[in-house]
Amino acid sequence: MTPIPSPADKFSFGLWTVGYNGTDPFGGPTRPALDVVHVVERLAELGAWGLTFHDDDLFPFGSSEQERRGQVDRLQRALAETGLVVPMVTTNLFSAPVFKDGGFTSNDRSVRRFALRKVIRQIDLAAELGAETLVMWGGREGAEYDHGKDIRAALARYREAVNLLAQYVVDQRYALRFAIEPKPNEPRGDILLPTVGHALAFIDTLERPELFGVNPEFGHEQMTGLNFVAAIQQALEAGKLFHIDLNGQRGIKYDQDLVFGHADLYQAFALVDLLEFGGPDGGRAYTGPRHFDYKPSRTEDETGVWDSARANMQNYLLLRERAAAFRADPEVQEAMAQAKVDELRVPTLNPGEGYADLLADETAWERFDAGAHFGARGYGFVRLQQLATLHLLGAR
Ligand code: GCO
Ligand code: MN
Ligand code: MN
Repeated sequence: MTPIPSPADKFSFGLWTVGYNGTDPFGGPTRPALDVVHVVERLAELGAWGLTFHDDDLFPFGSSEQERRGQVDRLQRALAETGLVVPMVTTNLFSAPVFKDGGFTSNDRSVRRFALRKVIRQIDLAAELGAETLVMWGGREGAEYDHGKDIRAALARYREAVNLLAQYVVDQRYALRFAIEPKPNEPRGDILLPTVGHALAFIDTLERPELFGVNPEFGHEQMTGLNFVAAIQQALEAGKLFHIDLNGQRGIKYDQDLVFGHADLYQAFALVDLLEFGGPDGGRAYTGPRHFDYKPSRTEDETGVWDSARANMQNYLLLRERAAAFRADPEVQEAMAQAKVDELRVPTLNPGEGYADLLADETAWERFDAGAHFGARGYGFVRLQQLATLHLLGAR
């Protein structure tokens, strides 16, 4: 039995994801463009909850105000008819030639001012549609060559830009928060704020850090060879997981944007387990949108587009079922106890204890038997991982 998605699952899709027409650096479209109303209707039928978009996905770059309004109205009618919501919007500062050296961090000051105006326009639309999050993915904010870009100045301009946007949101009394999406490279040779860690450090330097979080993408962290689940844990620990982009990626190569679960099932399993059951009380660690940022492969026709959209949600729900069974298994609980997973949550020092007490504690040094750890006291992490494997493969 495959589970059926429902709006309560909070699955959302980018208009640019199912709308991807197959264009890549080596070839043009392999499918016709999809109209936004059709996309909203199909996603609603499939059980999705939300649609997200870049300004340029809905109304092409350079549209007149009338064309823009026409598209927004068509979208709003489709939302009203289907019940789909727009939880997040984002601004395209990467496709048009004017942004070839970036938006907020272009060396050309007039481009930076134009980029800010474009984002402010999209912020107003976000508020109009009731979106809670504005994602900022700086795909062109970067460089290929070391001498052409002063990275310290670029970071200062990035900071200047987002501080201004936060001021605007506060002054307009919009209930909107910003989520920075890291990516190491592509389309630029190197992109600013390449990992979740870089973005978190940058957020600490902002005027209103409370309005900023991250939108980590599964494949982007893996493009760096890093562990996505670990990045999500750090973002959660910092209270900064504002949004998430789910997809699949096979190793350190170009951004594949595969279906969630079609690559690195272990990470996908661990991620769903964390999001759904990793909260302090064993409940949800993250309650925001489960957003799919993937690309239906260019080998597919429209049937394949909707098959792949459905596959993302199916895989998430199946992994959620597997994770629930994994957590409920008494042998898993016993293996976790042997692995001392809970013990890591116990503070290393007693309440009120300082270094003087630690230095006076002979059991911590003079009488501590470090040798007892040789050939004994294994943690059983491998057994725990095999239990996870058995659950993942449906063998338990
Ligand atoms: C990518 C990015 C983008 C962003 C999107 C939102 O393709 O590398 O994931 O899809 O998520 O532009 O701003
Ligand atoms: Mn991507
Ligand atoms: Mn993304």
